[in-house]
Amino acid sequence: MALVSPDSVLVSPSLPSCWPRFSQPLKLGVLASGRGTNLEAIAASIQRQELHATIQVVIYNNPGAGVVDRARGLGLPSVLLNHRHYPSREALDLDIIQTLATYQANWVIMAGWMRCVTQVLIEAFPRQVLNIHPSLLPSFPGTHAVDQALAAGVKLSGCTVHHVEIQVDRGPIIIQAGVPVYPQDSVAALQARIQAQEYRIYPAAIALAALDRANLVDGKTGKRP
Ligand code: GAR
Repeated sequence: MALVSPDSVLVSPSLPSCWPRFSQPLKLGVLASGRGTNLEAIAASIQRQELHATIQVVIYNNPGAGVVDRARGLGLPSVLLNHRHYPSREALDLDIIQTLATYQANWVIMAGWMRCVTQVLIEAFPRQVLNIHPSLLPSFPGTHAVDQALAAGVKLSGCTVHHVEIQVDRGPIIIQAGVPVYPQDSVAALQARIQAQEYRIYPAAIALAALDRANLVDGKTGKRP
């Protein structure tokens, strides 16, 4: 089955035609701050036996975030790490690393994680921290991407999955999907159109990133980068 079916408006880059199988399922730790619909989409892709992975744990930072109920509904463990209780971003990231280790997760999947991460987290999981953002990066990084795209009058918007670097919503792009912006669009309407694409490209981007990494391990160096 194709990674991303061809009826989306625009999807880049070229994808392998089939979902890859790995020697072991990828062990994902999902970080979320809000509703958790991307978590659900990733879990659905796993259940359909497309993305070869397991979700080991869901970490969230806002008590009462909708993602908690979704995680419960999916039978996934969730752990609250409330950033308000930490003296620094680094301290929070150290606890995230500890929690991921406890649940044996080694891919960090930021799915609506609305916190800046530090070098501490990035260095703990080289090339294994991914983020999704509701714009065609590098346009409109930050927390109001959809509003800003509408205000700017762009005619094309979309979403991006990328490797995480220290700057917010920056880093090597794995996949983007584009959607049209219509003159009558509200923020909610455009957001819904973008999110429909997020649900398709995030599982595919995880598979692609893992495939890339597996090739690096097996091919050039013989060890993990
Ligand atoms: C998603 O649209 C994601 O792109 C965005 O948060 C939403 C989370 O939705 N992330 C960012 O804006 C990151 N800068 P969800 O909780 O329903 O998955």
